[in-house]
Amino acid sequence: MKRERIYILAIESSCDDTSAAVLCNNRVLSNVIANQKVHEEYGGVVPELASRAHQQHIVPVVTSAMKHGGITNDMLDAVAFTRGPGLIGSLLVGVSFAKSLALALRIPLVEVDHLEAHVLAHFIEGQHPIPPPFPFLCLTVSGGHTQIIRVESPFSLDIIGHTIDDAAGEAFDKAAKIMGLPYPGGPLIDKLASEGDPTVIPLAKPNIPDLDYSFSGLKTSFLYHIRDNLVKNPGYIQQNMNNLAAAMQKAIIETLMAKLIKAVKATGIRHVAIAGGVSANSSLRKALTETGHARGWHIYIPEFRYTTDNAAMIGIAALFKYQQSIFSGQDAVPYASSVKRASGNP
Ligand code: KG4
Ligand code: ZN
Repeated sequence: MKRERIYILAIESSCDDTSAAVLCNNRVLSNVIANQKVHEEYGGVVPELASRAHQQHIVPVVTSAMKHGGITNDMLDAVAFTRGPGLIGSLLVGVSFAKSLALALRIPLVEVDHLEAHVLAHFIEGQHPIPPPFPFLCLTVSGGHTQIIRVESPFSLDIIGHTIDDAAGEAFDKAAKIMGLPYPGGPLIDKLASEGDPTVIPLAKPNIPDLDYSFSGLKTSFLYHIRDNLVKNPGYIQQNMNNLAAAMQKAIIETLMAKLIKAVKATGIRHVAIAGGVSANSSLRKALTETGHARGWHIYIPEFRYTTDNAAMIGIAALFKYQQSIFSGQDAVPYASSVKRASGNP
């Protein structure tokens, strides 16, 4: 018999955020996130420190999610967790916790792919008048990945373009690091760029074939520009912070949008979504809105709270699997990198 209400506790621990969420069907009852400040001074995530912080956060975060969700253990139908991709030491904390809890409560365990969850976050209730219909395209841009995905169903997500080196979020974070800003740099660059002129500083734009991306050349161009100017003026970064941020942001967003336009042309799919941490970027949200309007696309922009890593997106991805009785065993182990490849796109 089909159950009317399905309660899922979801756990996310793939990188530097410990998160737990409770969902009743596609409605989020709670979504608690503990960020890790410890990485700020290092310019990136330190895996060993991240793992330790997850250990400290996991119990209070899950307890808080259950409390704010207003539910008790006996109401839970399943425990969901991120199996990968991510940092193994971080993933292990969430995977082990989820396995133990499911075993203790004698309820099913549902594993979720982190990147698929970013995409499926669009199906969380209350974000769009109607969720994107299948098939749709999703540009997933995060700290570790940059992908254009053709989404045929919740179980069929084909990567039709991806980065061959750095991810878009990584490009933001590395640019921030070069400017002496703390990690994560994306939100800071976004803020500084809003006060800057993006046309003052010339940067070499990536130019690679097909629907793939490359951001390492842009990062090098940014680094060399700053290095050359610092020789002439030691105060160069401080005096040009806003314009530097604006130039870097413009180059990244224009690159992302150019390939997305190409993907729409190549597939004929006009329902276009964005997902992942970089989809919080104001300039990307604006560019998608304007391009969508000009080209007659239907666009789907996630709520801010579902852009960066969160367990609610793990919960919604798990719901699709729960409805098909796709469960995991106690032998599930984390994986570090993406296991899936779209046909013809190694
Ligand atoms: O999806 P996410 O939380 O974690 C991964 O799965 O990687 O993405 C984190 C990334 C970081 O690189 C961060 O700098 C970037 O998303 N980010 C942003 C913004 N907010 C977060 N990048 C540009 N503009 C933003 N507003
Ligand atoms: Zn993510």
